[in-house]
Amino acid sequence: MESFQWILGIESSCDETAAAILKEGRILKANLVASQTDLHRVYGGVVPELASRQHMESVNLLIDQAAEQAGVRLRDLDGIAVSRGPGLVGALLVGLSTAKALAYSLAIPYVGVNHMEGHIYANWLTGPDISFPLIGLIVSGGHTALMLLEGHGSYRLLGQTRDDAAGEAYDKVARTLGLGYPGGPVLDRLAREGNPEAISLPVARLRDDPWSFSFSGLKTAVLNLMHRLAEQGIAIDKADLAASFQENVCATLTEKTIAAAAAYGVDQVLLAGGVAANSRLRQMMAAACDAAGFTLYLPEPAYCTDNAAMIACAGYYRLRAGFRDGWDLNAAPALGMDSV
Ligand code: KG4
Ligand code: ZN
Repeated sequence: MESFQWILGIESSCDETAAAILKEGRILKANLVASQTDLHRVYGGVVPELASRQHMESVNLLIDQAAEQAGVRLRDLDGIAVSRGPGLVGALLVGLSTAKALAYSLAIPYVGVNHMEGHIYANWLTGPDISFPLIGLIVSGGHTALMLLEGHGSYRLLGQTRDDAAGEAYDKVARTLGLGYPGGPVLDRLAREGNPEAISLPVARLRDDPWSFSFSGLKTAVLNLMHRLAEQGIAIDKADLAASFQENVCATLTEKTIAAAAAYGVDQVLLAGGVAANSRLRQMMAAACDAAGFTLYLPEPAYCTDNAAMIACAGYYRLRAGFRDGWDLNAAPALGMDSV
């Protein structure tokens, strides 16, 4: 088996350009993220064209810096892993073309990685050795999915969101509350000052499909409440609303994850994606897993949001399993969880 001692990871699916160098699959030697948040903030969200341009300006420099920090020359690399989707097509193409050009010039293999699978592998970066099977809850700005993880590269999608992703709901509610962009982390902080029981908000009941999620009704309820109170000239307690919203989302995510683990007879739970950085979700899931006797794996908050270390790690396992991609590989902006 080839060793793949040095792997370069590249991530450019949305508004973060990232490069990482991973040694032997789990020793992180460099992990650089150039966030474009400041660039997009004035627009209240990511502008795809600007994202692509910024990725082009940053990516090569970031790779050189990562190599320098890791103390490795590019010609010592054994393989490259790059996000190929889901994400913004122009943004993805920057990372993918860069990976291909480097792999070609260095005559080393490269693999495209499903960005969501990358999120899952953030758990392998810092945690102890993780065994299968696991129930995975992947919660990000674009996805909310419950999965049965049976082995490296062997996953079953149990259910996902029918409308908004959990992170998307956080961002939209935060924007309505005037908390700015990106809203998730700000709402998380504000919620700690509020009363989670102050405002009663609806929970979507999807009886025919226990593993699916729906957050658009909750988001609409928050918007309607804000409008109604504004019309009546009543000032809203933003911290109470943030806390009530957060409690609602985290309770749904936690209950379904624990129920899925029980239903599938799996006693290990894994969280991944940007929303896995949420303080209340981490707390609630830890308490629920503890009560049920389940083991919980959580990436460190810095590895929950988009980064290239997780892509390098997922790529390491793909390369080791013999996967190689050709020069014709295309970006897959709508790549689903079921094709992980
Ligand atoms: O995984 P990620 O970095 O990008 C995607 O693949 O989408 O996730 C970004 C999402 C955003 O919606 C952001 O608001 C949310 O994760 N997020 C959080 C927190 N940190 C990031 N949501 C709630 N609480 C947080 N602490
Ligand atoms: Zn992501």
